[in-house]
Amino acid sequence: MVMIPILKRKIYPPGFLIDGYKVIRLVGEGRFGICYLVDLDNKPYILKKIKPKAIKKAGNKICFEERILSSINHPSIPKIVDTIKNDNIYGYILEYKTGKTIEEMLFGDNHIFTPTEIYNIGIKIIDIIKYLHERNIVHRDIRVPNVIIDEDDVYLIDFGLARSVDSERYLHSVDFSHFGHLLIHLHYSSFIKNNIKSKPWYDELELAEKEIVFLKRLIGIQDRYENIIDIEYDFYQLFGPNCESRL
Ligand SMILES: Nc1ncnc2c1ncn2[C@@H]1O[C@H](COP(=O)(O)OP(=O)(O)O)[C@@H](O)[C@H]1O
Ligand SMILES: [Mg+2]
Repeated sequence: MVMIPILKRKIYPPGFLIDGYKVIRLVGEGRFGICYLVDLDNKPYILKKIKPKAIKKAGNKICFEERILSSINHPSIPKIVDTIKNDNIYGYILEYKTGKTIEEMLFGDNHIFTPTEIYNIGIKIIDIIKYLHERNIVHRDIRVPNVIIDEDDVYLIDFGLARSVDSERYLHSVDFSHFGHLLIHLHYSSFIKNNIKSKPWYDELELAEKEIVFLKRLIGIQDRYENIIDIEYDFYQLFGPNCESRL
């Protein structure tokens, strides 16, 4: 079967066979990979094919995603079930998670996230970060295209930048600030711009003072959080089911 060049890129067409996996369709593309929904024995999987350019750029760091994913086991992180390496392809087979990325929900569906939804998503992401940080892993790419939502389920994908913690380069704090920015993105879903002049998020969004302080501490522009346990505690106390504003 021939490959179809789309915008000068080679995209596998439906029906194309790779190591026994049959391509169903393209599902997404990011900086490092092109992801296809594939089928083996009537079971869906994701084939993440790493782009040759990314392999060149990352060099031997390219193995971290596979190594880290193989070492962990969390229901909210897709498991790696196979690797495909030959002259034409470097990729992994991952569990397929149904749902949509937050990016698709925000920009495709214009979904408005309610405070309860934001809390429920936030507390699940905190649980995943806690699991990773306990194992000395930093994800380093907790952003809206890398979180999948399926009703009440939340999944963190894309371990392409994940690394073992190292006190000089790979710090826990990068996950805290990404998580803070992700929460700000969710709050912006209900923002209606009526001022031509842009203001910083903490002046523009209608957030309670305690929430602004929490987000500033996550991002590190005020008294930076040092660990995920303190973040989990504050998040639950400030916004959880028993917090004042909910009663
Ligand atoms: N396990 C998965 N289940 C469902 N969709 C996935 C899965 N992994 C990746 N995707 C989709 O493919 C896109 C790109 O995958 P990702 O791992 O983020 O690659 P990149 O490193 O290129 O950003 C994601 O944004 C998502 O839409
Ligand atoms: Mg990605």
